[in-house]
Amino acid sequence: MRTRVLTTRESFPGTALPRLAQAADVVSWPGTDKPAPADLAALAPGVTAILALGNDTVDAALMDAAGPSLRVIALASMGYDNVDRVAAAERGITVTHTPGTLAETTADLAFALILAARRRLGAANASLMSGGWDTFRMHEYLGLDVHGATLGLIGYGQIARAVARRARGFDMRVLHHSRTSPDSVPLATLLAESDIVSLHVPLTPETHHLIGARELAAMKPTATLVNTARGGVVDEEALLDAVRAGRIHSAGLDVFAREPMGADLSPLVKEPNIVTTPHIGSATESTRAAMADLAADNILDVLAGRPARTPIPG
Ligand code: DGY
Repeated sequence: MRTRVLTTRESFPGTALPRLAQAADVVSWPGTDKPAPADLAALAPGVTAILALGNDTVDAALMDAAGPSLRVIALASMGYDNVDRVAAAERGITVTHTPGTLAETTADLAFALILAARRRLGAANASLMSGGWDTFRMHEYLGLDVHGATLGLIGYGQIARAVARRARGFDMRVLHHSRTSPDSVPLATLLAESDIVSLHVPLTPETHHLIGARELAAMKPTATLVNTARGGVVDEEALLDAVRAGRIHSAGLDVFAREPMGADLSPLVKEPNIVTTPHIGSATESTRAAMADLAADNILDVLAGRPARTPIPG
């Protein structure tokens, strides 16, 4: 019997599917939306590999549905907070992710959110589109400068460093706070001195609600918070309170604690001083193809008896 590979979507940009199909029988969840865990489990028995997205539920139940044949779970995402890593380790299953594919694209989006939030592009565009603008006025649509401002990066991995490189072109002073970097500043210093605080940490039990009411109160009243990491890193209620009360100037959010959001929109989306996008940090044709291709490469490595090229950190 040929090896079986499960993919949690029916199509991917790039060459992942045809290359996997050369090496194995591919069974795909037939859709573009996130499958229900029970639907995925029904397709899993006997597969050797699963190609999943960062928002799929990859838990012990799915691993057990696949059974002892399952050797690799390859995510087409950088984040892996959706995977039960302990369950995977206990079952000897390799989990891989996609470093090196999406940092520049996600940094572009982080910078877009910085600019949009500071310069109030959402409110200005909405006013224009609703016919609310007729002429130039000295006091209308005033925002805050990005050039020359101080940028504080929390986390200092590939994406944060890519944001820092962009900031140099805007003559910004850049601070960062991270557990591993030697020139990291204390979190309290970063929060007090930054005009823009941008989040670049994975979601873990330690980073859950890393930014809450206390941290927001420690930021400047003119500060902007930007999150392209994971929604759970921010206490969203505290953020909403802080923006509404003017304790910080604005926010730019690409990620939310509750995804998918559906029609029941988060109040964050409707807040004029918060610019929001629907988890599109890595959403360019070439980057999404590179992510899926790397996930397929990891599966092909394991099927060929080689170590996976980008396992998640141990
Ligand atoms: C990532 O790669 O982690 C993105 O958030 C998409 O899942």
